[in-house]
Amino acid sequence: MVTGALFLFFLVPCVEAELCYNGGIFDGIKCICDENLYYGPKCEFPLDEIPVIQLSVTVTVDAQVRVTNKEYNKSLEDLNSNYYREIQTQFKKQMKDVYGAVPGYKDVEILRMKNGSIIVEHKVISQVLTENNLELIQRIIKIIIEAVEHSLKDLHTEGKCIDPSGPELCFVPLPNSALIPSFSLNDTCKNVSDTKYADYYYPYIRNGTVRCITRCSSGTPDSMNCFNGVCRLSEIGPHCICNNLDVFWYLDSYCRLPIQKTVLGLSLALAVFFVLSIILVICLIKAKRKNSRNRRSDGANCDKIGQRNPIFQE
Ligand SMILES: *[C@@H]1O[C@H](CO)[C@@H](O)[C@H](O)[C@H]1NC(C)=O
Ligand SMILES: *[C@@H]1O[C@H](CO)[C@@H](O)[C@H](O)[C@H]1NC(C)=O
Ligand SMILES: *[C@@H]1O[C@H](CO)[C@@H](O)[C@H](O)[C@H]1NC(C)=O
Ligand SMILES: *[C@@H]1O[C@H](CO)[C@@H](O)[C@H](O)[C@H]1NC(C)=O
Ligand SMILES: *[C@@H]1O[C@H](CO)[C@@H](O)[C@H](O)[C@H]1NC(C)=O
Repeated sequence: MVTGALFLFFLVPCVEAELCYNGGIFDGIKCICDENLYYGPKCEFPLDEIPVIQLSVTVTVDAQVRVTNKEYNKSLEDLNSNYYREIQTQFKKQMKDVYGAVPGYKDVEILRMKNGSIIVEHKVISQVLTENNLELIQRIIKIIIEAVEHSLKDLHTEGKCIDPSGPELCFVPLPNSALIPSFSLNDTCKNVSDTKYADYYYPYIRNGTVRCITRCSSGTPDSMNCFNGVCRLSEIGPHCICNNLDVFWYLDSYCRLPIQKTVLGLSLALAVFFVLSIILVICLIKAKRKNSRNRRSDGANCDKIGQRNPIFQE
């Protein structure tokens, strides 16, 4: 019974060790990994670079409109005031229609409300799926700006505003207000990677394409240099695995300055021997002085060591 339990206890880890990690599938001989994310005999290593064919780009355009049927007051400086929230909710609701034709439109984010009557500065947020090609992304951004511009031009709701005293907002466009675009790839790489490692992949633009890399990818400005080792990503982040750890010690986590363990052991032994010798010599000298001062000394401990050790006898 006990042996059976023991047997299981030792067997279970062995069987588990046979399996593949990270969703790899064992085909009887080897692990078949999700080749876009992992490699290694057990699929234990996350790739240094995830291939990106398609990506999702978040494009934002800063714009502003004028609300004509509401009064500006100090409440609008407080994001938690009822007045602010009321206008925000209504604004978001109506902008869904206003920007309905903008490709990938997701939401608006209010940046600021200003006096006049109320000028609402906001970000128009779009998310589009595109091929991994920077030129194409630039073209998409241009299309989105044009669409925002068009939507704002069509914003002649002032005349159409049926009940200016009602909850609905009446808008007019602000002439000559600049539309400022920007795009973010920050989420792109988080989305393509496994959530376990999402924090360690980041976008790197090279040769007109976006690459999702980690600090273990070589040849980039943030690459980690593991001098006498290899870089590996784990759940704690990228780090160096140093070569021949059974033979060498390294002075830092980048595997610099290998020191042979045998050499280190020998030097340590020598150092200990050296320190002991000095202590012994000091003891001997002290004992000698005591002896010469008081011939009938009952003998310090050091004295005995000195007498037993032939090297230190005269
Ligand atoms: C992430 O991927 C999911 C589907 O896989 C998609 O619906 C979502 O929009 C993506 N988000 C980003 C920020 O890429
Ligand atoms: C808003 O502007 C108007 C006209 O310039 C002014 O009379 C009013 O006091 C301003 N309101 C606030 C809260 O600053
Ligand atoms: C601002 O106007 C709103 C709506 O008219 C009102 O509820 C709020 O109390 C006003 N806030 C201030 C500080 O006057
Ligand atoms: C993207 O990430 C970088 C670095 O983490 C950060 O400085 C930047 O503000 C982020 N951009 C957006 C739009 O979140
Ligand atoms: C850049 O991309 C082109 C084609 O897309 C390819 O032929 C070339 O080798 C790439 N250059 C580098 C440095 O990756």
